[in-house]
Amino acid sequence: MDKIEVEGIDSLRGNVRVSGSKNSSLPILASSLLIDEQMIISNVPHLSDVIFMIKILKSLGSEVNFEDSICKIKSNPPSNLKISYDLVRKMRASFLILGPLLTKYGYAEVSLPGGCAIGTRPVDFHISALEKMGAKFVVKDGYIKGKVEGRLNGCEITLKKVSVGATENIIMAATLAEGETIIKNAACEPEISDLSNFLVDAGADIKGHGTNIIKIKGKKRLGGCEFSVMPDRIEAGTFALSVMGCSGNIILENVNDLICNHLKKIFKPINNLLLSKKDNGDKLEIKKVNKSLNNLLISTKEFPGFPTDLQAQIIASLIKTEGRSVIKENIFENRFMHISELRRMGANLKQMGSKVIINGVKEIYGAEVMATDLRASSSLIIAGLMASGKTIVNRVYHLDRGYEKLEEKLRNCGVKIRRFSK
Ligand code: UD1
Repeated sequence: MDKIEVEGIDSLRGNVRVSGSKNSSLPILASSLLIDEQMIISNVPHLSDVIFMIKILKSLGSEVNFEDSICKIKSNPPSNLKISYDLVRKMRASFLILGPLLTKYGYAEVSLPGGCAIGTRPVDFHISALEKMGAKFVVKDGYIKGKVEGRLNGCEITLKKVSVGATENIIMAATLAEGETIIKNAACEPEISDLSNFLVDAGADIKGHGTNIIKIKGKKRLGGCEFSVMPDRIEAGTFALSVMGCSGNIILENVNDLICNHLKKIFKPINNLLLSKKDNGDKLEIKKVNKSLNNLLISTKEFPGFPTDLQAQIIASLIKTEGRSVIKENIFENRFMHISELRRMGANLKQMGSKVIINGVKEIYGAEVMATDLRASSSLIIAGLMASGKTIVNRVYHLDRGYEKLEEKLRNCGVKIRRFSK
């Protein structure tokens, strides 16, 4: 199993080219099942989750060629409409296949996702929405088996709680349903807009994406298209928080105006992190300045709030900040697996329910630590950059799920980092 060894550094300096978004690529790839003609999707990151989704598409009969960030896909009617436990267990986003298969082929058998490192993460919203559209489900042997007589029917669906995945599954299912589907309390994340823009380019009729009411008029078929995936705002935010943690000045390349504005907004309370747009938002300069930061309180929220996917990284970045900071997690009930590992490096962190209190310490020390989930892993890398000595991160396959060329990008900023297996 691969490990990463990273050495502490006083300041990061260099340019980082941000990759295409993982959370946008996964639903876009899943939605390729809706489309009969060839699609050319560019700016797709080479990540294990993406490779995994491609494996699922191939198992469903799609022809996929993925080279140099370009994914060419031609889907074919699958001979088998089942996604096994092994595939769903490894990646929860496999569940995004359900909506496309049901609406296009009238049948799907998908293993129910179990618990995962960041909580129970149920799929009840996905199921009840598709039921309202006319699908019938039975649960047997750990699988949910869905069936549709004729076409799914458009209807009004109000999500009990904002859910990115449920919004995406409903949008995909609705593009080929009979009539209009209206999603209320929909997720507004930019990745939902990216998926919608892709589907609109393929001929779908979707309005309101990016707001919490999305309207989709079903079409009989969708056609081929070319599309470029948006940049990864969580990767961009992770690099910004690395600068926050260990100081320096970096330029993020291949971002866009929306991502620049989003990061500027969510990091506004951190008054010693300066973010300046360059080249009309194609680049974003991140700089740490010397200012004291007192009583910072940040709570995770749905977009446009502070993303839960940056919670672990912001905690790490504040470990050496003088005074007391509080981070509150509001999206997932148990997303604090990184806390005990960060403590092993000398961080003073106290968990109280959904809050983590960070009392700044002068120094933290490299240690051998264990990655538990994707974003927890990147928080350990940030802590490693801030620590004196060397840190060894175990189970880096979690990092490979969501960070493309991480070592190369950090090396370009002056970091001593290497991967090895033992
Ligand atoms: C997506 C992102 C993940 C991010 C999360 C929240 C992808 C591939 N993953 O995950 O990186 O952390 O959004 O921004 O895009 N819930 C239910 N029932 C459901 C569905 C969700 O109770 O049927 C709850 C979840 O447990 C959680 C909340 O709703 O508390 C939000 O989850 P959701 O937005 O669905 O997360 P994912 O789509 O799985």
